[in-house]
Amino acid sequence: MPGDVILLGGPGAGKGTQAQILQKQFGYRQISTGDLLREHRNRGTELGKAAEPYMQRGDLVPDALIIKMVEGELQGDAAVLFDGFPRTVAQAEALDMLLESCGRGLPGAVYFEISRPLLEERLLGRWTNPRTGRVYHEKFDPPKVAGVCDEDGGPLEQREDDKPVTIKKRLDVFEAQTMPLVAYYRERERLATIDATLPFEQVTHALVRALDLEHAH
Ligand code: AP5
Repeated sequence: MPGDVILLGGPGAGKGTQAQILQKQFGYRQISTGDLLREHRNRGTELGKAAEPYMQRGDLVPDALIIKMVEGELQGDAAVLFDGFPRTVAQAEALDMLLESCGRGLPGAVYFEISRPLLEERLLGRWTNPRTGRVYHEKFDPPKVAGVCDEDGGPLEQREDDKPVTIKKRLDVFEAQTMPLVAYYRERERLATIDATLPFEQVTHALVRALDLEHAH
């Protein structure tokens, strides 16, 4: 039975793409704070309304709101893939305490290493099916017909925060507030690093190796 894992990496590094693959193949449960926040926003909840201005600017939503939201998601026995969380040292400390208090043990982290220009290219070309979350890229993983999902035939959308000015802000915020987590997990000997510039299947393969899942079926 695999343990809980944090997928750590910049916006566009491929965390969500890989989380969906690992979820299908190995029975993990993906907890994506970005997806949860977008759901709250679409439903018009208090949390969604509070988070909206931060997300639109490309800033981080305050730690207290995020930690409370994640706390509410931590039921069930399945090992969790944390996607986009934690993003600050305060969130990492809170997650360690939360998981220990429910007897789950401390999670390992996998850092998706990739350059800033490649992150920009990935975000600028990303198209998403808002109904299923299926993600495409106009150059690296294009749908058969531009703007149309191969799976349900419905329209694809570009995310509102995938505009050049917001992308720059998100990358700056990542470097300033989330990169310190690489040292946080490395110092605690809980960090593996993978080359996230590789093609999709090779990144999956690197992740499976880093998580020692080769024989986990
Ligand atoms: P969130 O939704 O988490 O966005 P993000 O971290 O910016 O990450 P992305 O979803 O943009 O990237 P990804 O790594 O999942 O890449 P993907 O797999 O799609 O957060 C949005 C906002 O919510 C934040 O700005 C913040 O305001 C708020 N928020 C969320 N969590 C928070 C938290 N914990 N604390 C505070 N605020 C929070 O891939 C990208 C593209 O690349 C796709 O087109 C894909 O097809 C392509 N691609 C993927 N892998 C490959 C590959 N190997 N080769 C070629 N192309 C690839």
